[in-house]
Amino acid sequence: MRIRDYRPSDAPVLADLYARSVRGIGPRFYTPEQVAAWAAQAPTVERVREAYGDGRVALVAVDAADRPVAFSDVETDGHINFLYCAPEAAGRGVMSALVDVLEARARALNHPRLHVEASEAARPFFLRRGFTLLGRQDLRIGDVPIHNYAMEKWLKPPKTGTAPAQS
Ligand SMILES: CC(C)(COP(=O)(O)OP(=O)(O)OC[C@H]1O[C@@H](n2cnc3c(N)ncnc32)[C@H](O)[C@@H]1OP(=O)(O)O)[C@@H](O)C(=O)NCCC(=O)NCCS
Repeated sequence: MRIRDYRPSDAPVLADLYARSVRGIGPRFYTPEQVAAWAAQAPTVERVREAYGDGRVALVAVDAADRPVAFSDVETDGHINFLYCAPEAAGRGVMSALVDVLEARARALNHPRLHVEASEAARPFFLRRGFTLLGRQDLRIGDVPIHNYAMEKWLKPPKTGTAPAQS
């Protein structure tokens, strides 16, 4: 397993990986209706190319055949948008290795803070990485109620004078 920068030729695999990840891992945490609604949010290949061509840091973990098995990114404002691992690769430290590199890249770019809307599946992952839970967010995808968690991690002390919460 290797971590490398995203390439536009990865986009079809990533669009597919999103839906496979949600359908394969999501049912441990969400109802069938919620999983279906979430999977339907999978980006198109064009959307992946557009999003990942906007200057953000976008990384993939690849197998021996250079095929992505996980991906994530940090936008220019420090927001982590996508974070998806193939079901067959989950629970083996793949995303931890990827997010180690993502955080190092964010620090190198002087991002003061990372923030994310974490799924029920991702919440423990981010807590282990020193993110702070800001609150639960109850949302709807169409008619389907679903929730996630706003989380953040300060890479530098905030400038506002407000100390970051300790985790
Ligand atoms: C969340 C997700 C990306 C984690 O990827 P992963 O490759 O399985 O994570 P890792 O194997 O690197 O896990 C790192 C650590 O967190 C733990 N962990 C990961 N997911 C966990 C979970 N849901 N509950 C408890 N612990 C979890 C692992 O056991 C591991 O612990 P360790 O370092 O002590 O061994 C993956 O579960 C996923 O793709 N989920 C579906 C999509 C999703 O929810 N995306 C998030 C959108 S914000």
